[in-house]
Amino acid sequence: MMQASRHAGPASLPIGSDADLAWVRQQVRQAAAELGFGLVQQTKLVTAASELARNTLVHGGGGHVQITPLDAGSSRGLRLAFVDTGPGIRDLDQALTDGYTSGGGLGLGLSGAKRLVQEFEVDSRPGEGTTVTVTAWATVVPPSRTVP
Ligand SMILES: Nc1ncnc2c1ncn2[C@@H]1O[C@H](COP(=O)(O)OP(=O)(O)O)[C@@H](O)[C@H]1O
Ligand SMILES: [Mg+2]
Repeated sequence: MMQASRHAGPASLPIGSDADLAWVRQQVRQAAAELGFGLVQQTKLVTAASELARNTLVHGGGGHVQITPLDAGSSRGLRLAFVDTGPGIRDLDQALTDGYTSGGGLGLGLSGAKRLVQEFEVDSRPGEGTTVTVTAWATVVPPSRTVP
């Protein structure tokens, strides 16, 4: 079931079409909201997810995103791993440069996404594919568990 809940586990969503991109955005927003992300935090993460999912589709030839809720005591987070088996990124520094595009884009997706999250990691092998993993954290005050 895709229905998110307080105890939602990891979910994997395909990225193979524009419709999939819309669904990924919607699911990331819902998951972030349920973890206690504020509206601004939600929008930052959805914006990053949108760019990375589009890269998976356009540059990676399609793939999937793994969505993992994280619980670290008082902090809850969301980890998103965008996975493809496309051509890979030969020069990561270049790809992360504002304005660099290998064709057709604005070249602000990867660099912009990096600025919108707390943790950002690219694992890419030429000829094998690319995984971009981002993590955002929402600090929430947990309900008191003290028994009177
Ligand atoms: N998943 C991917 N697989 C292969 N190349 C990628 C991937 N994601 C990004 N890139 C490369 O990094 C460049 C920069 O990405 P980005 O900043 O999103 O710009 P844009 O998508 O507008 O070209 C892309 O033009 C592309 O060459
Ligand atoms: Mg892009």
